[in-house]
Amino acid sequence: MKIALVTGAGRGIGREIARQLGGHGMVVFAGVRDESQAPEGTRPLLLDVTDEAAVTNAAKTVGEEFGRLDVLVNNAAICGDLGVTPAEATAGHMRATYEVGVFGVVAVTHAMIPLLRASGGARVVNMTTRLASLALTSAGEGINAEWAMLAYNSAKSALNAITVLYANELAGSGILVNAVDPGHCATDLTGHTGTRTAAQGAAVAVRMATLGTGGPTGTFSSEEGPLPW
Ligand SMILES: NC(=O)c1ccc[n+]([C@@H]2O[C@H](COP(=O)([O-])OP(=O)(O)OC[C@H]3O[C@@H](n4cnc5c(N)ncnc54)[C@H](OP(=O)(O)O)[C@@H]3O)[C@@H](O)[C@H]2O)c1
Repeated sequence: MKIALVTGAGRGIGREIARQLGGHGMVVFAGVRDESQAPEGTRPLLLDVTDEAAVTNAAKTVGEEFGRLDVLVNNAAICGDLGVTPAEATAGHMRATYEVGVFGVVAVTHAMIPLLRASGGARVVNMTTRLASLALTSAGEGINAEWAMLAYNSAKSALNAITVLYANELAGSGILVNAVDPGHCATDLTGHTGTRTAAQGAAVAVRMATLGTGGPTGTFSSEEGPLPW
């Protein structure tokens, strides 16, 4: 039986990822900041990704019971500058957004690496967005022009870089690390503007979390296929 951890699993896409991984027969730790938010059938794990002690404790809890982690989905994020133009955005917007979606991801992944190595075939999925694409943003068109956010988009570009660096180093341990874009989903993060459901957004993450041996690593994709960096 595979052991999974999803951060930010109390609502939105993370909640759906946790439910769907449970449907694949995995033991799912739902990283939440309020235990009552954990979806049915999952194990609530108090995990504010910005809280060092909570991160350490999460690794200890999983390690003591199972000694390994097969799937890590770094889903928790905030968008600290929704509706703020790049020129209006402050270092404060950047700090708040990076704290969860960049430093939080590194804190959790770093703490889990020994358990991921112990799996022998772990999968790490980082939830990113096509807004992170420098190629699409420099083209100045479409959704990347419409949703031009300095903090959120650049935090996800950093996350993409982090994905590739982890992928390269951890490939030798059989760990596949990929970044996925769930598409524009109607969740709290987007003010419920998206056309896709959280469940639809979760599907691509679940696909990358359940890759077989020899699957890709260091990729950036959506349900429709690869995205340009
Ligand atoms: N929705 C979209 O269209 C879309 C598009 C592209 C990418 N994404 C990405 O997909 C992921 C999920 O987005 P979503 O739309 O489901 O967002 P959401 O509905 O706003 O949910 C965000 C989740 O992150 C958690 N979170 C926030 N700060 C946290 C912290 N410090 N520690 C632990 N958890 C924390 C929240 O937990 P609390 O309930 O405790 O606040 C919540 O569970 C994010 O990485 C997002 O950037 C979303």
